Amino acid sequence: MPAKIISGEEIGAEIRAELKPEIDRLKEKQGVTPGLAVVLVGEDPASQVYVRMKGRACEDMGMHGESIVLPESTSEHELLATVDRLNEDPAIHGMIVQLPVPDHIDANKVLRRIDPQKDVDGFHPENVGKVAIGDDSGFPPATPFGVQQMLMRSGIEISGAHAVIVGRSNIVGRPVASLLLQKGPGGNATVTVCHSRTKNIGEVTRSADILIVAIGRPEFVKADMVRPGAVVIDVGTNRVDDATRERGYRLVGDVDFDAVKEVASAISPVPGGVGPMTVTMLIYNTVRAAQRWAAI
Ligand code: GUN
Repeated sequence: MPAKIISGEEIGAEIRAELKPEIDRLKEKQGVTPGLAVVLVGEDPASQVYVRMKGRACEDMGMHGESIVLPESTSEHELLATVDRLNEDPAIHGMIVQLPVPDHIDANKVLRRIDPQKDVDGFHPENVGKVAIGDDSGFPPATPFGVQQMLMRSGIEISGAHAVIVGRSNIVGRPVASLLLQKGPGGNATVTVCHSRTKNIGEVTRSADILIVAIGRPEFVKADMVRPGAVVIDVGTNRVDDATRERGYRLVGDVDFDAVKEVASAISPVPGGVGPMTVTMLIYNTVRAAQRWAAI
């Protein structure tokens, strides 16, 4: 039987519908319009798409959105000055600097400059540390948070499950491991993290009850790497050439969807899976940041 589809479009819409009354309340009762600033340096086409989506989501939710697009030639000093300005801006409760930044800029230095209270991407070491130790005052990064919500809201038993994560990035792999390992709801999994040097990776992935793939390689996970009945979340978004498409490419995940859906019990598609959840959880974190601001 083909797998149940875990739709990030549907789950994301459900969460945004839950957030809307809180946004309206903050605006009407507290005079605070949650504000998100998205900073993009350069012209990476995929990043431009993400930044547009984030801006549109803010608008749809009645929030204040600011997109700041800087040229590729922007110096590290200029970018830090932009971060400083947004740290001080009372209309901005959350900010993100879209990654990757050009090579001449030290991304770590920039991420450390963001006020942790406005770091809705959860990339500042203070938030990374809080998430790692299970301190819920930290902002979980949007994509891992979205993955966790997809599992929870699909009724998948995480507690006691063996969750295998393929990929050890700071943006996805490591923080997903932290979240699923935590004590409490959405956690209590037994977690294994695989990466490019893992031996017999198929053997490890086949032992997963929940398989989360974020390795950035198109259709890397094949059907024989998945245990029948496993739940598969595909975090990959890869452009592959496709002459039959008007734009010349199509998007595929890190999982061979057509084959794996015949083996898994549930699977997230690409597009329409984790992507919409990332935007939604960024909005969620921004609303939380605005709530804290309002409570000061
Ligand atoms: N690049 C890829 N994913 C992300 C993300 O979640 N946040 C930021 N800032 N950059 C990214």
